[in-house]
Amino acid sequence: MLKVEDLSKSYRTGDHVYPVLKNLSFQVEKGEFVAVMGPSGSGKTTLLNCISCFIPHDSGKIFLNGKDLSGLDETGLAKVRNQNLGFVFQDFMLLDGLTVFENICLPQVIASRPVPQMEAKAARFCEAFGIEKIRDKYPAEISGGEKQRTAVARALMNSPYILLADEPTGNLDSRSCRAVIDAFLQAKEEMDATVFMVTHDSFAASFCDRVIVLRDGTIYTELTRNGTRREFMDELLEVLRELGGAGDDEE
Ligand SMILES: Nc1ncnc2c1ncn2[C@@H]1O[C@H](COP(=O)(O)OP(=O)(O)O)[C@@H](O)[C@H]1O
Ligand SMILES: [Mg+2]
Repeated sequence: MLKVEDLSKSYRTGDHVYPVLKNLSFQVEKGEFVAVMGPSGSGKTTLLNCISCFIPHDSGKIFLNGKDLSGLDETGLAKVRNQNLGFVFQDFMLLDGLTVFENICLPQVIASRPVPQMEAKAARFCEAFGIEKIRDKYPAEISGGEKQRTAVARALMNSPYILLADEPTGNLDSRSCRAVIDAFLQAKEEMDATVFMVTHDSFAASFCDRVIVLRDGTIYTELTRNGTRREFMDELLEVLRELGGAGDDEE
């Protein structure tokens, strides 16, 4: 589904070049729920932004469903972003002037899809994610967890190949965090969605199938969940401890 090959990215400021991602290679399979963890500054957001095509990478390849994104022009990238990628952000990025239902419909409006199908699909998602009672409310009138579930529904509207999420639980209390993780799990189980999530929260990551741990722009280790969620969380905490208090100092 997603294949990253030898990906490198540096930032330049004046004469200085800061390598941030160094020859990263990994794969995410269809239907997998994968998290990326690592200390602040290890390159998580940069990695996600490269995969999202928000910033160009220096070298290496990013394949989405077999297609190399590196060669696309702006028009091609815009199409991939709208139709093949679904985004969930830490600060929700819902439009304040639109209702929950209208926000969910937005990607299909942008893609000029027929209205009846669009509304039927949005209504299905509202029901699936337990937000049908608030579908006519505005973002200012709903809780953080409801906002993020709205954002997950919106991200799924165009049936993307993969959902990309940067710290989706970062602004939520633990109950809302759980509701959002449940929405991802539900998307995975009922819609066979693939989810790639950056997080510093080992509780959120412990629900994933696999966790890629970054350190200084390289893959420090990869952990696959075999036992219970609790055991996986202990394993994650152990690795983060090895990395030196990593993970809880995120902005
Ligand atoms: N636009 C930018 N210009 C220069 N340096 C940047 C830029 N964005 C991020 N960095 C640097 O790249 C490194 C990795 O940042 P980031 O990907 O945001 O890490 P993380 O999300 O893991 O905290 C950090 O040292 C950060 O300061
Ligand atoms: Mg970050």
